[in-house]
Amino acid sequence: MADPDLAPGAIPSPNIWNHPQVYEVENRAVDRAGAITSLMQRLAPWEGRDLLDIGCGTGFHLPAFAARAGTVIGIEPHGDLAAIARRRIRRVPNATVVHGSAEALPLPDESVDVMHARWAYFFGPGCEPGLAELDRVMRPGSRGFVIDNDPSRSTFGQWFRLGYPQVDYVETAAFWADQGWERHGVDMAWTFDSREDLESVVRIEFAEAVAEEILAGHEGTSVDYAVNVWTRVW
Ligand SMILES: C[S@@+](CC[C@H](N)C(=O)[O-])C[C@H]1O[C@@H](n2cnc3c(N)ncnc32)[C@H](O)[C@@H]1O
Repeated sequence: MADPDLAPGAIPSPNIWNHPQVYEVENRAVDRAGAITSLMQRLAPWEGRDLLDIGCGTGFHLPAFAARAGTVIGIEPHGDLAAIARRRIRRVPNATVVHGSAEALPLPDESVDVMHARWAYFFGPGCEPGLAELDRVMRPGSRGFVIDNDPSRSTFGQWFRLGYPQVDYVETAAFWADQGWERHGVDMAWTFDSREDLESVVRIEFAEAVAEEILAGHEGTSVDYAVNVWTRVW
């Protein structure tokens, strides 16, 4: 991809920035049973509501959100990915994609009912500017969701600990609890259509030596995968 035209605050996301097509394969493999969506719908049904997807990447989730929401806004700091997301929603009249970042949301005060941020490296210890922006744009009674890996359990969690030993997930959990967010553990899976797809995704998510070790020790086309859904009400 050419010059990505990054909005201030963008945290490098090499998987989707460098490999958007393989990341699409990854997104199609995530949670085919819909456990994350079911939890979100139970806690904050978004029929007719205004939904914000922060760090929307190529906009994979926007059409499904827009099928029920009143309006959907995707925010993405990587200009090329924002352009792909815009193309994806060109025939979705109630969805918009805006180039920007969590730290400076291009939105009016008290304009959002449901916030979704998935695989959001920009939300965690040190993300207070982004959280202050949420305090500004979320309506009273609105709900936010931050969805991230739970490295403490599941096969994917073991892989994550192997590949990213520097990630202090105990500190991350303490951070969210201190901020008043509540954790819901969700057991989902990666389910691929082929072994080739699984291998290509493992190779964009992990350094080469780790990816080869993972693939040598795991057969088949699916992986059990635990996530944390962090949530709070304003
Ligand atoms: C791993 S990708 C996930 C994309 C998307 N949520 C999905 O599930 O397909 C993380 C995304 O967060 C974006 N991002 C990075 N820093 C950000 C920031 N400060 N504010 C908002 N988004 C950010 C990246 O550009 C990337 O598109």
